[in-house]
Amino acid sequence: MNKLPTYAAPEGGKLTERMRADYERAGVLVLEGFVAPEKCRQLLERTQELVDAFDPGEVRHIFSALDQTQLGDKYFEESGDKVRFFFEQGAFDEQGNLRQSKEQSLNKMGHAMHDLDPVFDAFSRTPELGQVAQDIGIADPGIIQSMVIFKPPRIGGEVHCHQDSTYIYTEPESCVGFWFALEDATVENGCMQFIPGGHRMGLKERELRGADGKLRLETLDTSPWPEGAEVAAEAGTGTLVIFDGRSPHLSGPNHSDKSRCAYTLHVVDRNCHYPKENWLQRSADLPLRGFVG
Ligand code: FE2
Repeated sequence: MNKLPTYAAPEGGKLTERMRADYERAGVLVLEGFVAPEKCRQLLERTQELVDAFDPGEVRHIFSALDQTQLGDKYFEESGDKVRFFFEQGAFDEQGNLRQSKEQSLNKMGHAMHDLDPVFDAFSRTPELGQVAQDIGIADPGIIQSMVIFKPPRIGGEVHCHQDSTYIYTEPESCVGFWFALEDATVENGCMQFIPGGHRMGLKERELRGADGKLRLETLDTSPWPEGAEVAAEAGTGTLVIFDGRSPHLSGPNHSDKSRCAYTLHVVDRNCHYPKENWLQRSADLPLRGFVG
C-alpha cells in the first residue's frame, strides 16, 4: 500500500461501509476537508492568545519524543488536566536564550484544552466527530487528552515510530487518535507517516509508573518495525486523520521555513479500565467527557 485510505469528509461525519472497512484494514483513515479552514484559523488564533499569555519565566520545560527528557518532570507529569507548554529541544542557544520567537520555539501545548478552554471545547465536540467515533465502534467515547503540536519551522523535532496505546493504555485497548491539520502538512515540514496495517502487530512498548513512582517504558516486543513501510499522510488544512492506538506512526523533523501546526485528540472507551499506572491522570473534578455536551 503506497497511499493511505483517503476520502473527502462525508456528510455529517457518517462513514461509509468502505471507509469503515479501510479503517479496519489500514488502522488509519484520512478525511479531507473535515473542518472548515475558518475554524482551523480560529483555533490557531486562540492558540496564539494562550501562547502570548504564557510566561516561561526561568524554568523551561522541554518535550522530546526522541530523548524523553520530560520523564521525571513534574510539570509534564501533572499536565494531564491542565494547559501547559513544552519547548522544542533545539529551542535554546548555548546561553539559554530562545533562538526564535516563543511561538516558534514550542513543541506542544497540552493536555486538557478541550475541557478547560471554551474555544477548544467547541472545536473538539461536534456532532460530526461523535458520528465518526460511533462509526468506528467506540461504544462510549471519552476525550482523554488534547494537544497542539507546533512542529515549528527549522527546529521542529523528529518523532520516532511509536504507537499511542503505549502512552494511553486501557484494558482492553481502546485508544484512538484524532489528528487535525491546522496548517498544510507536507513531507517537507514533517507530516505524519503511518505503517498501514501495522495496528495488527502487537503493542511494542508500554509506559507505566512503577512502584517507585517513576515513569518508565516497558518493552513488550523487541521485533523491529518493517523497514520502509511507512506512508506519508500529507494533509491540507482541515484534514482529519483518525488512527488506531496501535497504528505505528512517526514524523520527520521540520527543517523548512513553514510551521506545521496540528491539533490532536485522544479518545478512549469509558467502558474500558484506565490504569493508575498511566502517566496521564485527571483530577476527579474534571470528569471524562465525550463528543457531546
Ligand atoms: Fe503519536
